[in-house]
Amino acid sequence: MCGIVAYIGGRTAEPLLIEGLKRLEYRGYDSAGIATIEGGALRVARSVGRVSELEERLHEAGGFAGSLGIAHTRWATHGGVNEANCHPHRDDRNGIAMVHNGIIENYASLRTYLEEKGHTFSSETDTEVLAMLIGELYEDDLERAVKAALREVTGAYAIAVICEKEPGTLVVARKGSPLMVGVGNGEYVVASDASAIVAHTSQAFPLADYNVVRITREGFRTSTIDDTPVTPKISQLELDLEQIEIGTFSHFMQKEIFEQPKVLATTLRGRIDRNEGRVVLGGLANFSKELVKARRFILTAQGTALHSAMIGEYLLEDLAKISAEVEFGSEFRYRNPIIEENTVVVGVSQSGETADTLSAVIEAKDRGALALGVVNVVGSTMARETDAGVYLRVGPEIGVASTKAFTGQVMVLTMLALYMARRRFMSPDVCARCLTQLEAVPDKIARALETNDRVRQVTERYVDRDNWLFLGRGYNYPTALEGALKLKEISYIHAEGMPAAEMKHGPIALIDDGMPAVFIANQGRQYEKVMSNIAEVRSRGGHVIAVATEGDTEIAKVAEEVLYIPECEEFLSPMLAVVPLQLMAYHAAVLRGHDVDKPRNLAKSVTVE
Ligand code: G6P
Repeated sequence: MCGIVAYIGGRTAEPLLIEGLKRLEYRGYDSAGIATIEGGALRVARSVGRVSELEERLHEAGGFAGSLGIAHTRWATHGGVNEANCHPHRDDRNGIAMVHNGIIENYASLRTYLEEKGHTFSSETDTEVLAMLIGELYEDDLERAVKAALREVTGAYAIAVICEKEPGTLVVARKGSPLMVGVGNGEYVVASDASAIVAHTSQAFPLADYNVVRITREGFRTSTIDDTPVTPKISQLELDLEQIEIGTFSHFMQKEIFEQPKVLATTLRGRIDRNEGRVVLGGLANFSKELVKARRFILTAQGTALHSAMIGEYLLEDLAKISAEVEFGSEFRYRNPIIEENTVVVGVSQSGETADTLSAVIEAKDRGALALGVVNVVGSTMARETDAGVYLRVGPEIGVASTKAFTGQVMVLTMLALYMARRRFMSPDVCARCLTQLEAVPDKIARALETNDRVRQVTERYVDRDNWLFLGRGYNYPTALEGALKLKEISYIHAEGMPAAEMKHGPIALIDDGMPAVFIANQGRQYEKVMSNIAEVRSRGGHVIAVATEGDTEIAKVAEEVLYIPECEEFLSPMLAVVPLQLMAYHAAVLRGHDVDKPRNLAKSVTVE
């Protein structure tokens, strides 16, 4: 949700900033802007639309030459999508320019105060208020003015600020929204995430909340907004360039769907001890005593991660026989949640930055729960705020619609459930058998991906339909929700997911001969019941597309289209059943001519509540 990149060093900033913005574009892409200092004067360019449009504008203007600059790609919160609301924002007195990710909650009262002081605003944004406040407090030291302003604001921010009166200084700060400083040789690249840094340096440190860094070409200094010095820990980025390149694929989403077998093998690597029949989760090692005592798990998440959390609920109850429930982070926090002794809260999040999920986890932790993170991005806020956790290790996910992070989350939650089961009652032999099955999942996903051509043909047949149903039971009820979400997100087709049995309690009224209904009908405890639900749809003229287990010939007699996935244990089936649904959404978006990786109105990392 909004991407920031800033540069100070010996090179021309503009091309580097534009390239960085393109890497960060998945965070927001309704407008973009850049400011540099050139010959002691600010130069600013802003443009509605994609980063490529800003690039064109800069090209027409002959480019910017400064070697200090800030840039931003926006996902609108305050104020509509227009040029006046684009970042960078400026103050009206001291030649200050600023980019911001987050929300300044008390912006209205600050704006009134600044207007009374005679400042004139040109946008509706909260960001301009902060830029103006820094300008109001500026005397002769940008860092001091930034700190003074930040002491007055409530809300979340990651900011980068420059001032034409100090053409060799970049000031950056953070609270609540992510920001990293890449430390190169005589140059620094600051960005919302490592993807905009890694091409220039592999040494970096994340900013902690309330930290401010003043950077010059000679070095940097970190302190809190109250001036307490901080020594940051610079470390090697765990990311290489190849991971963030699209390679031979047409879209990042396609790449990420197809790399699932490989990355899920990495998720498992070193974590399975088949001889001892146990799961080894190093991230939980210091809390094994607390986990043995756990009586209840609360899994909290948003979006796709919520669907994997729901599968986690089934897994914990079914395999580990422990009480589990799932909560939207956004709802949990405001409900006065009851946290009894020996409760474990698990935040599930690809980015580790989703504000709703984070605040729920922190709330539960404050009320005494042990907080675990199931997170992909290493060093993210969730990873740091939780007591312990397990990383997904699926590599950077760039397509806005989450795919490999979903299967990675389910894989980790499966390991967590087996880890709990084994500590509670499961014998090494039984656990070893489950682990053998689990280890076979990456290869089975590779086989499920072989449905690709068939999925494209089926999708072509129905892609003009505007309403779809996704139905499943048990473990695959959340998979149905995920299939519907994927279709909505990138193809803008209205889709509803629900438990298959629920259909006859209302939604069946929607079924007519125009309605495709996708059933997840793999072999399992509820197979016969799902078959009855399929019959209910067919007898009312609906079209049934079934995801079924290889070798099931019965289903072909009732469903019009069948997409086969390899046979597997029921508890592992969501990781396979979701694959044709991911492909279906992908092909529908391509066939409808949409921007697959950057669907309208969405942002990958939602850092505001
Ligand atoms: C946004 C994205 C979704 C994602 C959700 C949770 O809404 O568009 O794709 O599932 O956030 O993100 P997280 O990073 O917490 O998994």
